[in-house]
Amino acid sequence: MPTHSITYDTYPTPDDLPEAERELLTRAKKALPNSYSPYSNFKVAAAARLEDGTIVTGWNTENAAYPMCLCAEPATLAAAASQRPGMPVVAMAITVKSPDQVLNQPASPCGSCRQQLHEQEGRYGQAIRLILRGEEGPVYVFKSAGDLLPFAFSGSLL
Ligand code: THU
Repeated sequence: MPTHSITYDTYPTPDDLPEAERELLTRAKKALPNSYSPYSNFKVAAAARLEDGTIVTGWNTENAAYPMCLCAEPATLAAAASQRPGMPVVAMAITVKSPDQVLNQPASPCGSCRQQLHEQEGRYGQAIRLILRGEEGPVYVFKSAGDLLPFAFSGSLL
């Protein structure tokens, strides 16, 4: 029977990360207060490192018409594209803060975010390394957003 598996790295704390990844996670955490999330009060922030080393941050932005809420990940991709058109994202750190609990496990990007990250990977032929952490606890590092989206829908089918 066919199987699908991925490998990823875990680090007990951000202090155990390589310097560049720790820096990216720190930038994401610093951006959390910018989250505009008056409806869920669930803050999500991301920091993207671009191929030229630029770091761009973004956060979730909600709307009274709930389906219009913008997740942190595509907000960050759009900010990166605006600041450095045509420059691939090579890594993204994502962190969250829940209003109800101290999350001690990473929150994974939602399905829509995974699809949008996957599109960028295909567009530039560049894997986006994902660095995920809750408010506390371990850090998970995935080599590629595509690892989180097996059997993805892709433009090659169109
Ligand atoms: N959210 C994100 O920003 N990224 C995700 O991948 C999942 C969810 C936001 C959307 C909404 O503002 C809040 O988290 C609660 O769902």
